[in-house]
Amino acid sequence: MTTDTTTKDATPGAAVPGETVLDARGVTMRFGGLTAVRGVDLTVNAGEIVGLIGPNGAGKTTFFNCLTGLYIPTEGEVRYKGNVLPPKSFKVTAAGIARTFQNIRLFANMTVLENVLVGRHTRTKEGFWSAVLRGPGFHKAEKASRDRAMELLQFVGLDHKSEHLARNLPYGEQRKLEIARALASEPGLLLLDEPTAGMNPQETRATEELVFAIRDMGIAVLVIEHDMRFIFNLCDRVAVLVQGEKLVEGDSATVQGDERVVAAYLGEPFENAPGAEEVAEVEAAEAHAETAAETAAEADAETTAEADAETPAETTAQTAEADAETTDETAEADAETTTDAAPGKENDR
Ligand SMILES: Nc1ncnc2c1ncn2[C@@H]1O[C@H](COP(=O)(O)OP(=O)(O)O)[C@@H](O)[C@H]1O
Ligand SMILES: [Mg+2]
Repeated sequence: MTTDTTTKDATPGAAVPGETVLDARGVTMRFGGLTAVRGVDLTVNAGEIVGLIGPNGAGKTTFFNCLTGLYIPTEGEVRYKGNVLPPKSFKVTAAGIARTFQNIRLFANMTVLENVLVGRHTRTKEGFWSAVLRGPGFHKAEKASRDRAMELLQFVGLDHKSEHLARNLPYGEQRKLEIARALASEPGLLLLDEPTAGMNPQETRATEELVFAIRDMGIAVLVIEHDMRFIFNLCDRVAVLVQGEKLVEGDSATVQGDERVVAAYLGEPFENAPGAEEVAEVEAAEAHAETAAETAAEADAETTAEADAETPAETTAQTAEADAETTDETAEADAETTTDAAPGKENDR
């Protein structure tokens, strides 16, 4: 399927070579006093794989949310194939942009095939009455949808698991299923938010091949990833976000050789091990708790004779405990979201 740009047709599908698929200009997203994304310009052309990298908290996911209608940017404009995007995520999907999420969102209690079929709903013409009456048109459309869904499952290597419940898939396969579901909306641009997080090196390598294959199908790709080998193998261009701003953009060599990029990453692992983000957070919380406990113990020792001075020490120790508990709870809450995740829930990431 080709799209005639001269008519500014927003129908998705394979783009015209060289066409600007995504054009984000001056995108700014503020949450109260915090500017998570500041004046970011980014284009993705047909046939390109573009990388978006940056330290944790740089604003990468927020930027994706601005591109997909989950957030309405405070300032700036996003165009897809020349048309300004509608401010609703399902309309953005219908226009031709599909995405996967940093924290996997699948219908855990649906089968693998059903999850992909859900992804097709923006492309099926059969409406409500057709579904209720279940006439020949409905059955024909349903069969076509199932065939396409099976094709996509085969493409990502999950066709043999079509009847398994999504929740029973290993993590790496859940990520692949999310990609199949995103492809089911027949996008012209696919946004991937940390597609290899939690994958082993073999799975990461396979995902690289999968992204090349998606590009070869005529779908432009914008990918966020911490694994620098993955990014620099894959991407034609890489943009670096730091504290919400685009620091550098260029080919792999340009970005890798840029001192500011190296400085921005100092202290951050270049190739994040699976779950490194969470490990780092837990370690930081533990370190914080230990320091606070030590301070409290010292304060205790120093002030044994002074009964009045015990209160601040206890308070510090309690704060440390409370901090550690909060971190645990956050980790649990995160885990729950991942398992029960549903695309209907419009969370921020
Ligand atoms: N819905 C929100 N409300 C308030 N702050 C948010 C929200 N979403 C993200 N942020 C903040 O915006 C910043 C960027 O976050 P995020 O886009 O998730 O970064 P990244 O994906 O690069 O790790 C962080 O400081 C984060 O806490
Ligand atoms: Mg993120």
